[in-house]
Amino acid sequence: MNLTLQIWRQNKPDINNNGSYQNGDGKMTEYKVTDISPDMSFLEMLDELNEGLLKKGDDPVAFDHDCREGICGMCSLYINGQPHGPESGTTACQLHMRSFKDGDTIYIEPWRAKAFPVVKDLVVNRSSFDRIIQAGGYVSVNTGVTVDANEIPVAKTIADDAFNMAACIGCGACVAACKNASAMLFVSAKVSQLSLLPQGKAERKERVERMVAQMDEEGFGACTNTGACSAECPKDIPLSSIARMNREYFEAKITSNNV
Ligand code: SF4
Ligand code: FES
Repeated sequence: MNLTLQIWRQNKPDINNNGSYQNGDGKMTEYKVTDISPDMSFLEMLDELNEGLLKKGDDPVAFDHDCREGICGMCSLYINGQPHGPESGTTACQLHMRSFKDGDTIYIEPWRAKAFPVVKDLVVNRSSFDRIIQAGGYVSVNTGVTVDANEIPVAKTIADDAFNMAACIGCGACVAACKNASAMLFVSAKVSQLSLLPQGKAERKERVERMVAQMDEEGFGACTNTGACSAECPKDIPLSSIARMNREYFEAKITSNNV
């Protein structure tokens, strides 16, 4: 396959060394790639492009990746106007070039959200997600020594629900897809997973209060129920998790000392 790539190139980061915001003055740049196998992954295609750029002494395109198996959440590419590209339930690293046609022009951009400032080219800083997790996305109560498997009965429906929520890989596609740059789907997946299981119940009220407060502090927008987050999520986290988080939040707030 021969393809034309339109890629966002940006050398200057959105955030200065002193922490102030600047316009990163990036721009779309055209590249041609030839002899791309339809069986290559999208990231392998970008590797090919970078090999060619390096051979010419040019700066390779910076993009995030790690596991390349759909589990780490690092690959974060806006491909032809869709986070992770055209296939549903698929991360950019699992996307194959057979999803495109010979001669296509493909537009590749970074996630666009105030809380995800661009570092370089297609790489954005997603440490705002880490800070939300640090605010409460864990279990800190001492739940005693490790017990044998299946000692704590959990209903199958609850276990399934928690497992589905735990599938969130923290990629940020939900934020990128949302017109409000809301992080509600990500935060709700984490809140739901922990609040559903016995070990997480003890801290569920403080957890949701702290995580939502941190989410707001990071500059993510509010949810207006348009559903783009769930439609573009590579792990199919359902919108119902946001409804669950709202219930958890309401319940926490009416009994909270922090109101
Ligand atoms: S909810 Fe989906 S889109 Fe959002 S961070 Fe988790 S896996 Fe990615
Ligand atoms: S590189 Fe790990 S999910 Fe894509």
